[in-house]
Amino acid sequence: MRQDPLMRTWFSGEESALAVGSRLRQPELGRTLRALGRQGARAIYHGRIAREIVAANRRAGGVFTLQDLADYSVVEREPLSQESFGHRFVTAPPPSAGGFTMLQSLAVLERLPARHFPRDGSAAYYHAIAESWKGPFLDRRRYFGDPDHVALPLEALADPARLDALAATFHPTLAGEPALYDLPVRPVANVVQPEDHGTSHLCVVDAEGNIASITTTVNLPFGARYTAAGMVMNDEMDDFARAVGEANAFGLVGGAANLPAPGKRMVSSMSPTIIFRNGRPIACVGAAGGSRIVTAVQQVAMNIVLRGMSASDALAAPRIHHQAEPNQFRYEEFAPLDAGILERLRRRGHVLDQIHHVAAAQVIGIEEREGQRILTAASDPRKGGRPAGL
Ligand code: DON
Repeated sequence: MRQDPLMRTWFSGEESALAVGSRLRQPELGRTLRALGRQGARAIYHGRIAREIVAANRRAGGVFTLQDLADYSVVEREPLSQESFGHRFVTAPPPSAGGFTMLQSLAVLERLPARHFPRDGSAAYYHAIAESWKGPFLDRRRYFGDPDHVALPLEALADPARLDALAATFHPTLAGEPALYDLPVRPVANVVQPEDHGTSHLCVVDAEGNIASITTTVNLPFGARYTAAGMVMNDEMDDFARAVGEANAFGLVGGAANLPAPGKRMVSSMSPTIIFRNGRPIACVGAAGGSRIVTAVQQVAMNIVLRGMSASDALAAPRIHHQAEPNQFRYEEFAPLDAGILERLRRRGHVLDQIHHVAAAQVIGIEEREGQRILTAASDPRKGGRPAGL
């Protein structure tokens, strides 16, 4: 990062980043944002800023061309939407695998008998959730890629009979080998995790009740570790599979469908979500934290929908993570499960692994009371942000 003319100025001494409370002035970024405001996205993909991006990428050893930027366009996609537990979940479509994973997991959990999925934060509760993620994360590895480039069998994956089979695989007191939940729908065509620093999630509700659930990322801390036109360039290439079977920075093992190719978009975990009850929005949820985004967003959503928690309680509650590979049941140092629960999970056969925290999430709860819209916003205590504008 010290080789980058702008990033170099963000680090004064040998190791130290800017001291807390110091002011960071970013005039170049200001210029870029003003150009964006004046010209819209065109400002980034053509002209001065595009030339700066290509030059910075070349200096860093990249292969970008002006044509690559000129050829880029945003694709607007229909969100995924599913009714579960009496609520409608509207969430990110492919090429993110986040929304899919959450919806599959909810569909499996809904199929379990209530005694096997008590909504009480007990060992049985966390066991059921961890088990429900194993199948979808293996689907991600096998099938997920840019839907404009690979055939993604979403309908077959979400077939009710297949969800029944996944639910039938569940054992209430034994952790299943992930392979048990691996149910291919057709032949295939072809870790240590970093801290979360590269991603931000923003929930916004405006005065008219419009809701935006936005996740944005440069991927790993400081992205590709160089800047152009005041902006930190991302290292989103890591969300592609570098090689089939190779794990990326989040331990997600790559599949053939997610190999890079010209014009292809990478598979993401970003899961910006809006939840509706009886056709009315009740919450906006999202998170930062790589593969843990998916599991964090789902748990926060379930805390609200199934466990009746407030926005801040829903964020503060302990979270777990399981992504099938590695076969590890992650629990938090920040909000640990109690020792009794951990012991019961261990006895079920889970391989427990403590990590500092499972992602950083944001919530706005939305209630209508006597014609008034009441907003309750909360930021994750794991990251230390705070709501604004209320
Ligand atoms: O889209 C993704 O899944 C990743 N680029 C997200 C990376 C991330 O959340 C990093 N940390 N906050």
